[in-house]
Amino acid sequence: MGGVMCGIVGYVGKRSASPILFQGLTNLEYRGYDSAGIALGGESEIRFYKYKGTVKNLENVVSGRDLHGTIGIGHTRWATHGEPSDLNAHPHLSQDGTIALVHNGIIENARTISSMLEEEGYVFISETDTEVLAHLIEFVGKKADLSFSEAVREALVQVEGTFAVAVISSRNPDTMVVARRGSPLVVGIRDSGSEFFVASDALAFAEHTRFVAYLKENEIAVLRSGDDFRVSAIKGGKKRHPEIIEIEEDLAVIGKEGFDHFMEKEIFEQPRTVRDSMRGRLDPKTGSVRLGGLDDYMGRLAEADRIVFVACGTSYYAAVLGEYLIERYAGIPVEVEYASEFRYRHPLIRKSDFVIAVSQSGETADTLAAIRLAKESGATVLGICNVVGSSIARATDAGVYTHAGPEIGVASTKAFTAQVTVLALLALALAEKRHTLSCKERKRLARELYLVPDKIETTLETRMECESIAEQYAEAENAFYLGRGVCYPVAMEGALKLKEISYVHAEGYPAGEMKHGPIALVEDGVPVVVLAPNAAETHEKVISNIREMKARRGSIVAIVTEGDAETASLANHTVSIPEADEFVLALIAVIPLQLIAYYSATIRGCDVDRPRNLAKSVTVE
Ligand code: AGP
Ligand code: GLU
Repeated sequence: MGGVMCGIVGYVGKRSASPILFQGLTNLEYRGYDSAGIALGGESEIRFYKYKGTVKNLENVVSGRDLHGTIGIGHTRWATHGEPSDLNAHPHLSQDGTIALVHNGIIENARTISSMLEEEGYVFISETDTEVLAHLIEFVGKKADLSFSEAVREALVQVEGTFAVAVISSRNPDTMVVARRGSPLVVGIRDSGSEFFVASDALAFAEHTRFVAYLKENEIAVLRSGDDFRVSAIKGGKKRHPEIIEIEEDLAVIGKEGFDHFMEKEIFEQPRTVRDSMRGRLDPKTGSVRLGGLDDYMGRLAEADRIVFVACGTSYYAAVLGEYLIERYAGIPVEVEYASEFRYRHPLIRKSDFVIAVSQSGETADTLAAIRLAKESGATVLGICNVVGSSIARATDAGVYTHAGPEIGVASTKAFTAQVTVLALLALALAEKRHTLSCKERKRLARELYLVPDKIETTLETRMECESIAEQYAEAENAFYLGRGVCYPVAMEGALKLKEISYVHAEGYPAGEMKHGPIALVEDGVPVVVLAPNAAETHEKVISNIREMKARRGSIVAIVTEGDAETASLANHTVSIPEADEFVLALIAVIPLQLIAYYSATIRGCDVDRPRNLAKSVTVE
């Protein structure tokens, strides 16, 4: 399941809410966030405090302020719409200040709703998609004279996208309304309903109760202290019976949502994060793509003489895939450069060039420096970043966010697949503008992309095979990763993953290059991971490469397409992945490589989330 994007807490009961909220937010800190806030209700007006920065900072700033109130909501934000700032932090209030809410997720039709509300006289003070919902609840409630909970329901019916929300109202000081779609939300119950706890993860309130009810998709619940817990369907309002369960005691496990490491959690989150990267951008029926952040630039980008990607590490490999996809499907010449090389090699940059920086953190010093150089040369500079409001996001003229959610593991996984998804979307959008693909072909590719999350889900089922492969090679000190075409950057990424977290010397190579030198290193038992799915145009060639490695007694681990017994028969070990078009193949083929690296590291006893010598964002040159 996992949380899009960060943390929600809430309390309704007899005790003072604020200490419970602060503790809950602290328990959720491990997820990563950029701002924190709370709102308190009860007998008087809603009081709210929200700041960019840590929960500790929030606690320090508000100490001594009016924190009374037996109902309250809290939030740790991981920005998706609008940079991290005090104003953009949650809770958000409705125009008249009677309604406050916290939200996880993305409201896709925020722009449409806000223009409608602006005409009705509503003024927006933040850049978030969330504020729209606060005003909308007030608006629909007043317009149709609805009760508080009915107003929340009606507003949510009008909203597209994903949400977990907790809402309070000063007019109903004993009631909290919560709901979810696509983001998790759990209600904790204590003393048979005299107190309710709300959170995006049960860990937030684990010290208070172990009796919980997970809201299901598209459910809304009304919580009133004194045993009133009503659940219904958001649409139609049909009553639902809340299923109250007792959760296990092992809090550490709950914290990482059942996983041992962040990296593992992030690998398994990818069906959802890839879907989030496409959310509101891809219409699988028409094959049309809209990247809102590039609206003002798409026309010119489609006419560009050249696109130059600059990036480092994993983001660089994503950019190489961007090159393959954009050149092949949209017919624009593309170059990819390591940011650290680009800036010192006196590159030729023309005013007509589009330089696109790709970065998870948005803080990588080399990539920032490359951006500066590109700007000085007069090129248009765009960004593909995961962290909203990051330095790279601010330094570029425009860009697209990858929406993978916070990535905590140092070894990048879900950020990579999100980047590749956005680059595939960009290739489709450019193809549409340039008419380089037939309508039918574009629709087919759009459909392929749309199906990727399900195929990743299926691929994740190979985890046992990947673990057993990792076990068998636990003693190996060298490995090769080979691929051709779109599988070449995937091989590079697979080798990087293994190096980073398990400290095994791994070489990623274009399979066809092996014979030009590195094959000299292949000897008895050296593991050679070969990406050999049959969609690739070069399938036959890869088979020959496998034979070359086998002839030198290399031990072959082949990533093959389901049902391809012939290729499998050549290998010592195989991992089967679902059939996929080359357009999206990388997104699926990379999954087993992430898993193999992850299990190798755990088997070798390495610190997976904090590998030696590495930092999550490299802010030095
Ligand atoms: C990925 O696993 C690495 N930790 C590293 O190569 C990373 O991709 C690189 O430092 C670039 O970071 P960025 O995407 O945050 O710019
Ligand atoms: N989309 C919302 C925002 O940018 C919520 C982000 C979150 O889930 O933290 O404020």
